[in-house]
Amino acid sequence: MTAPNTFLWGAATSAFQIEGAAHTGGKGPSIWDDFCRSPGRTAPDADGAITCDHVNRYREDVALMQELNLDAYRFSISWPRVLPTGRGYVNSEGLDFYDKLVDALCDAGIVPCVTLYHWDLPSALQIELGGWENESLPQLFADYATIMYDRLGDRVRYWITLNEPWCSVDGGYFAGVHAPGIRDRARGYLAGHNLMRAHGMAVAAYRASRNNQGAISLALNSSYYFPATDSREDEAAAERGMLDFAGWFGDPIYFGDYPPEMREAYGDLLPAFSDEDARLLQKSIDFLSINYYTSELARHDASVGGMRYRREQFTDRPRTSTNWAIVPEGFRELLVWLDRRYGGLPMYVTENGIALPDHADDAGYVDDPDRVAYLRDHFAAARSAMDAGVNLCGYFVWSLLDNLEWAEGFSKRFGLIRCDFETLTRTIKASGRWYADWIARGGWADNGHGAVLDSSAAGGER
Ligand code: BG6
Repeated sequence: MTAPNTFLWGAATSAFQIEGAAHTGGKGPSIWDDFCRSPGRTAPDADGAITCDHVNRYREDVALMQELNLDAYRFSISWPRVLPTGRGYVNSEGLDFYDKLVDALCDAGIVPCVTLYHWDLPSALQIELGGWENESLPQLFADYATIMYDRLGDRVRYWITLNEPWCSVDGGYFAGVHAPGIRDRARGYLAGHNLMRAHGMAVAAYRASRNNQGAISLALNSSYYFPATDSREDEAAAERGMLDFAGWFGDPIYFGDYPPEMREAYGDLLPAFSDEDARLLQKSIDFLSINYYTSELARHDASVGGMRYRREQFTDRPRTSTNWAIVPEGFRELLVWLDRRYGGLPMYVTENGIALPDHADDAGYVDDPDRVAYLRDHFAAARSAMDAGVNLCGYFVWSLLDNLEWAEGFSKRFGLIRCDFETLTRTIKASGRWYADWIARGGWADNGHGAVLDSSAAGGER
């Protein structure tokens, strides 16, 4: 594997949030389709039926990516579009869609980066098997992944198995605000455990596949925890917070088990990995993939069960529409923390961006200086992490387009490109133009680092 000087600047999306065609093209329902239909669980407008209608407009979207000068594009495959019931019958129309999308990207000189699971589990697997709590899900996921490696792996060289298992569990099983809407910690840790096993098996399947010349990872997400005060207790609490957040799923895919501090704190709540699972998980990533939005404070609190810390929000920072404090220096600290803990692996920021209350003019144009400022400050923080030794190789802004923000509906706009959800007209925002210019100028004057793969092999070939 050679490493030329080709930093990848990209943008990211996910299937459920932009594709639409939720009930057409042979696609089966996902747990998110079901969740949006359950009364009172989501914002009234949350519905994946049309969203950005990307399935029908992907050519226009690839042309927009070219206007943004993107080197790379991260998108996810909808498992139920390929396998309507999660296993067995393959929907060739669904496979063809992704095939054509990858071709269009390659023709446009844009490197495809594919996420296999961004939360939209086929409903049948939830209803018939109990979803991620069932120990047979990992093998079914690996089978589905193999179909995708076989079909796309001659052109796709960047793979991400799961998007943010932390969110799958925290939103889906702890808070119950995401599909499948369960509120039960034990069931959550079990689901998270099977997500890890699924990752391990899918990576093993990739490495054994005929198209295994690329690189594979799992997208972690984490806040960075600053201590609430400079007391030693709070400093230790912040480090425990990091292990509880980034380490929960970061440690298994690197060391083959959860952090020892979590095992001690949570006892039987955390299931054990078999020797075989641990073997598959160890060093199961070729690069670190991290999604970052905000940072928090951690305060020691022995009355809180488990890791004995309380999460607090910054009160002195501007907030985004999703009510998150804007903390770019936490981004730098997070990248450095990951680099130190996980032995200097090449790293990609696979999501970073901001939801804002955009206002479009009569022509649909959005002037969004706050988004430009957010990106500029986070790019600078990432560059500063590189100066501290982090081998950052690429950066994907969330998101290419305004989209369906899960249970929150269409009100939270993250896009570099505005989508008018009445007419589906796309208009590049001021931030999109700024980003296009940033990429055209080559990003930082000194990018310093190359891609994990030779760019000629990273999706550019047909
Ligand atoms: C990430 C997800 O957690 O954050 C994306 O991968 C999501 O799919 C983005 O859209 C913003 O999310 P949130 O938590 O602000 O609704």
